[in-house]
Amino acid sequence: VSATTAEKPRKRYPGEAKGFVEEMRFVAMKLHTKEQAKEGEKEVKQPEERPVQRWEPSVDGYLKFLVDSKLVYDTLEGIIDKAPFPSCGVTVVLLSAKSSFFFRFPASVVWSNEKNKVISLMWSASDAEFRDTGLERSEKLAKDLQWFKEQGYTIPEPSSPGVTYAEYLKELSEKDPQAFICHFYNIYFAHSAGGRMIGKKVAEKILDKKELEFYKWDGDLSQLLQNVRDKLNKVAESWTREEKNHCLEETEKSFKYSGDILRLILS
Ligand code: HEM
Repeated sequence: VSATTAEKPRKRYPGEAKGFVEEMRFVAMKLHTKEQAKEGEKEVKQPEERPVQRWEPSVDGYLKFLVDSKLVYDTLEGIIDKAPFPSCGVTVVLLSAKSSFFFRFPASVVWSNEKNKVISLMWSASDAEFRDTGLERSEKLAKDLQWFKEQGYTIPEPSSPGVTYAEYLKELSEKDPQAFICHFYNIYFAHSAGGRMIGKKVAEKILDKKELEFYKWDGDLSQLLQNVRDKLNKVAESWTREEKNHCLEETEKSFKYSGDILRLILS
């Protein structure tokens, strides 16, 4: 084969060899500032991008952050609970009417076309189930807000950053599964990493080190995260390169919306 006709090797994306979650992580880490995380590359522009050690949080601001975070988790977990859900990877499979293949997917929507083939539209294959992952935060936040109430604090109504993000997530869940998955990944994984660090520092400064439920998981967190990574990788296996890129491109918005909510801690 001459050099001119030889096929060029396909472009490899950072993290691709390890699976799609690694690609999402790579893009997310670059959007941190150096102060936030070693791999960060972004310049500090917003107050919440400054080192957490130097934050001056207030209890009122932190309560706003918790309330808006709860609205986001309520929304996300409500969406996931509602089945069928196309973000779990819509796979269209053509198979013969006699095949027992689709029995393995009880949630499939199945019908016949004119050529006596069966088209199975799998909304939620069992390996792509994002319910009850153990990462859910909504009930934990409800307990924390109850605790603040018992301490005599007034719980505020959700504010604009939370309401705006919740609306956006609902919109994506109906029309853009790849973008929705990007937010799903970033919301849960950011909270398990930087989020925990923020919780610890803020508690040291204003809550007499009180450890909130928001930062506690039932079971081994690293195992829960790994289970979700495996499922996300499976879902993305059926995506085209364009769909994957579309998902990755959504990361910036995820940082923008979450950053707006984080900033409430400093308000
Ligand atoms: C990971 C800090 C905000 C998404 C991390 C890590 C740190 C960190 C220290 C761990 C890096 C490592 O594995 O070595 C922070 C701080 C933030 C912040 C201090 C704000 C003050 C955000 C935001 C998002 C985000 C707004 C997106 C919404 C992620 C993701 C990971 C991560 C996806 C990867 C987690 C994993 O590897 O499982 N962050 N972060 N972070 N962060 Fe952030």
